[in-house]
Amino acid sequence: MTGKIIGTGSYIPDTRWDNNVLAGMMDTSDEWIRERTGIVSRHIADKSTVSEMACEAAKKALEDAHESDDTFSADDIDVIIVCTLASDVLLPAVSCLVAEKIGASKAFCYDLNAACSGFLFAYNTCVSYMNSGLVKNALIIGAEKLSDQVDWSDRGTAILFGDGAGAAIVKATDGNAHMVMHSDGSRYDALTLLTGKKMYMDGQKVFRFALKSVPEVIEELLLGADMKKSDVDMYVLHQANKRIIEGVAKRLGEDMEKFPMNLSEYGNTSSASIPILLDELKRGGAIRSGMNIVMAGFGAGLSWGAATITV
Ligand code: UT7
Repeated sequence: MTGKIIGTGSYIPDTRWDNNVLAGMMDTSDEWIRERTGIVSRHIADKSTVSEMACEAAKKALEDAHESDDTFSADDIDVIIVCTLASDVLLPAVSCLVAEKIGASKAFCYDLNAACSGFLFAYNTCVSYMNSGLVKNALIIGAEKLSDQVDWSDRGTAILFGDGAGAAIVKATDGNAHMVMHSDGSRYDALTLLTGKKMYMDGQKVFRFALKSVPEVIEELLLGADMKKSDVDMYVLHQANKRIIEGVAKRLGEDMEKFPMNLSEYGNTSSASIPILLDELKRGGAIRSGMNIVMAGFGAGLSWGAATITV
């Protein structure tokens, strides 16, 4: 069994801050941010919460799944997993609110925090449930309001992040699932968000980790899946920094055309970045049924991983 993505949705807050807005808040410039990260703007959830954004993205993913299969309804969803590193609601799980909002009365619900690897870990978790026979359909969501968590005077960190949510409905389908997940707690202090504090990131350390670990984990995945790089149509990577994605492509010896990006508009939205990108690619027609797609996430933990996804 594997997990086929049959519906996607996203929620992007209206308020958009380009780099010049940040240059008015701290000692930075549009030129520096573009060159070092590829980011031009980020969206700020000044009027919505993590749980509200998660619900909106979920509603759209459900509508999308219903469009391709008009018999599919919220009651077909067996599990809802919301990935977030900090939510406005700590109890119950945000996923319980999502279940109530979309009318998913049969789903069991919980939240998962694997930081920027969250969506990848949630996908692998629900596909594992599918292989055990526990669930047939899953709703997984990444929702983040990082504008509340960063120190807006810390130019080394704040310029990178943005807010938003993305969701996917995953259906158990015949096929083989391939997945790899890793964490290294000995490097937990590279990226932290401690209660009552703002986010701390050793950018250089995380950068070097990503450049080394992401190509390695993709190679490990492909080896386990008995796939060649030429079999891969597209790599959907966590949208952290354009230079990281370019570096990964270079180390893999792959063409940049296989690495779609949208971080110039949204910045790094942590666990929401992959599902927002998947939603844009699906709606824009760039993802077609039968394509071989590799997804890879990486971030705080340190945690990282990869999976083949079916669309
Ligand atoms: O999604 C979770 C995972 N997170 C990541 O993947 C983030 C990985 N790290 C990064 O993307 C990069 O490390 C950053 C974008 C955060 C920083 O870029 P960098 O090229 O690593 O910059 P740096 O920290 O090495 O700083 C280089 C210089 C320093 O100045 P000096 O000491 O050379 O004079 C910084 O003070 O750039 C300075 N600097 C800035 N200058 C203008 C740092 N941030 C800024 C800024 N504007 N915003």
